[in-house]
Amino acid sequence: MPFADDVRAGLTARPKTLPPKYFYDELGSALFEAICLLPEYYLTRAEAEILTARAAEIVALVEPARLVELGSGTALKTRFLIEAGLTRGALSYSAIDISETVLLATAKALASQYPALAVRSYQGDYYDGLRQLSADQPSQSNGRTLALFLGSNIGNFDPPQALRLVRAVRAASRSGDALLLGTDLKKDPAVLEAAYDDAIGLTAAFNRNILGRINRELGGHFDIGRFAHRARYDAEAGRIEMHLESQTDQTVAIDELDLSVRFGRSETIHTESSYKFSRDDVERLARESGFALEQTWTDDAGRFACNLLRCAP
Ligand code: AVJ
Repeated sequence: MPFADDVRAGLTARPKTLPPKYFYDELGSALFEAICLLPEYYLTRAEAEILTARAAEIVALVEPARLVELGSGTALKTRFLIEAGLTRGALSYSAIDISETVLLATAKALASQYPALAVRSYQGDYYDGLRQLSADQPSQSNGRTLALFLGSNIGNFDPPQALRLVRAVRAASRSGDALLLGTDLKKDPAVLEAAYDDAIGLTAAFNRNILGRINRELGGHFDIGRFAHRARYDAEAGRIEMHLESQTDQTVAIDELDLSVRFGRSETIHTESSYKFSRDDVERLARESGFALEQTWTDDAGRFACNLLRCAP
């Protein structure tokens, strides 16, 4: 079971880590949707502003017959692109998401809201999803594909991993296909840190829920109150780091792993990195993955960017 294996590997490593994809059980997915409504978490609203204003322009540039979304979530912002695409003609939408509950609810809602839209869904992480999708829909010569990787989901990947993932999207693309990549932009650390350490403690709950998930699914004995949420911006690395910091010396048993984990006081588990981008960072990622950066749109306040990467002929 990948969750068990990854928890074992992460909690026996030094420094301790856990992969952020495991935040999204049913409770974690609900907490993330709530985070998107926080006043401090500007990312979702900024990207929605861009897509509201630019969906028609993006669709006119790419003329997609297919949308393929990595990490669709509720696909609320995607609806602007779907609606713009459907006014042009036939369109299909394939969603990849780690959360089965969210994925099925989204597919159902889209199919009923847009009867003309052919909806398919693939549960798994991005690589699982891309693999299933290419087995199910062998590379198609009729019409273009617009891949969507929105919401700064790319930010969870270190630069080499980000490059590997965008290269995998490129490898599945044909001439004229495109990738719309949503990236959060580098900015004042205080603004970034508030977005990941909000006043009502939702992000803290989201972070700590990964320990709750270990308790629920793997027979863990974490006393969650003894781990504090930490979020800080590392300007050097250009990333927000989220950690869970042990408040005491403690040992935690995880029954199903037959494992006991020791924590020193103030030792942390690194649970997430959220990379922030400059225009140059995006340009380099595009070029090194075999795409060309065709256009970038930002919100009026310049906090977030949607980047159109084109697969050269
Ligand atoms: C879903 C990965 C884009 O990094 O901003 C939100 C997740 N973590 N608050 C992000 C998240 C803490 C989010 N992504």
